[in-house]
Amino acid sequence: MRINIITEQTRLNKECVHIRFETKVVEHIVVENGARTLLLESGHCSKLTPRKLRIFIRSIVHAAKKHKLHSIAITVSYADFPKCQQYGEKWFWQTWSEQLLLASYEYTRYKSKKVPATLKQVYLVTHSGKIAKDASMKGEIVGNAVNCTRDLANTPGGDMNPRQLGEMAQKLFKGTAVQVAVHDYKKVQQMKMGGLIAVGKGAQEKPRFIVMEYWGAGKPTPTTKGSTKNPIVLVGKGITFDTGGLQVKPGMYMYEMHMDMSGGAAVIGTLQALAKLKLKKNVIGLIPAAENAISNEAMRPGDVITMMSGTTVDVLHTDAEGRIVLGDALHYAHQYNPKLIIDVATLTGAALVAVGQHAHVIMTKRRTLEDLFRDLGEESGDYTFPLPLWDEYKQYIKGVHGDIANIPSGDSKYGGSINGGMFLSHFVKKVPWVHIDMAPRMTSIPSDKLAKGATGEPVRLLVKVIEQF
Ligand code: BES
Ligand code: MN
Ligand code: ZN
Repeated sequence: MRINIITEQTRLNKECVHIRFETKVVEHIVVENGARTLLLESGHCSKLTPRKLRIFIRSIVHAAKKHKLHSIAITVSYADFPKCQQYGEKWFWQTWSEQLLLASYEYTRYKSKKVPATLKQVYLVTHSGKIAKDASMKGEIVGNAVNCTRDLANTPGGDMNPRQLGEMAQKLFKGTAVQVAVHDYKKVQQMKMGGLIAVGKGAQEKPRFIVMEYWGAGKPTPTTKGSTKNPIVLVGKGITFDTGGLQVKPGMYMYEMHMDMSGGAAVIGTLQALAKLKLKKNVIGLIPAAENAISNEAMRPGDVITMMSGTTVDVLHTDAEGRIVLGDALHYAHQYNPKLIIDVATLTGAALVAVGQHAHVIMTKRRTLEDLFRDLGEESGDYTFPLPLWDEYKQYIKGVHGDIANIPSGDSKYGGSINGGMFLSHFVKKVPWVHIDMAPRMTSIPSDKLAKGATGEPVRLLVKVIEQF
């Protein structure tokens, strides 16, 4: 789909259908002076908040698709949206582009009949000119990065194993400013990533460790060490399929577990956006990629793992595998002297119990970061809400034979999401750090008005955090 910013309607051809917003409930096409207009209910634009604006833009795309329109023109004036002015005009136009793209996305790879998308052109008719054009271009970059993330996450586990995820990272960043290294199983063993090995060794396709480096601000030299050139490290959970391991997931709980690499996909999408925006920031992406499979070689409950950091871990549950692979990746992250580490993971079903499906759960020990992520969540549309990461919770993941356990030994049903965060905190040393449990936003819900499957979140949030941190 192409988005065009134009200043006058006259340049539009006959095929283009104009969208007109009405306050009454309507959704039909009228013909005026030979030109077609689709009347759509918007309520009062003056009442739309940022949250409602996003959904409203998506509903325009849905109506256009429903009426099989190829080309639409929407007259938009920033002044008509007073409640959407808190983040400024650039935000407004970026949001239009982003949301048009997110709403037009469909995952069609496995449809045997390839029907090309109907909606091909969207014209935003506005007097805002250059500011709208620039911001909309940025929105296109971010929107396309989110949709690329959705493609990666939506790909079934059989077609997206650890090897293929590594190959995709290499393919997507070929010829860009992002340098990719995919460490194979031998290298993973040499690096003594005991967690990644334990989780991934049961699968035919062995684990990989994917490293992506983007030095948009220039590499820090020994003299600039400790300066602003120190990178932000993003760590994304890359479980390409989660069977639960030997403690296998029952029934439909295993369905959709090909999306257990959504955190990793979001890290790839974010780096893609940064490189296209040519952002002058240093960002590293790390993905511990493994398939949590069942076989004679799979890790067993009761196994004790020695992690890359030297910490020993009691495997009390083979289905709490995300935290195990992330422990090694978080330890690895420290070699970059990062000024901030953010991990993104579909870590716990308990996060859904806590907040439903409307927010990412965030955990951090720093109040300023908690506030930043909540505010930028609101601004980006990737909403976040905090849970505690207090020392009081340490007692629950004490080790039986090892140093720590991957779940509470009594298998408590309480605070499951926090236990995951506490486990991860063990592998972070004095570096500002935010854990995003994105399980609640792994898949879209009907009120999102997005295609079924992966949401591509929290790419928009991560881009904003990196821009502003
Ligand atoms: N990948 C799952 C978490 C998940 C569940 C993500 C549903 C998205 C939707 C994770 O690896 C897992 O299995 N977690 C267990 C942890 C438990 C064994 C302590 C869970 O949440 O049940
Ligand atoms: Mn699991
Ligand atoms: Zn998992």
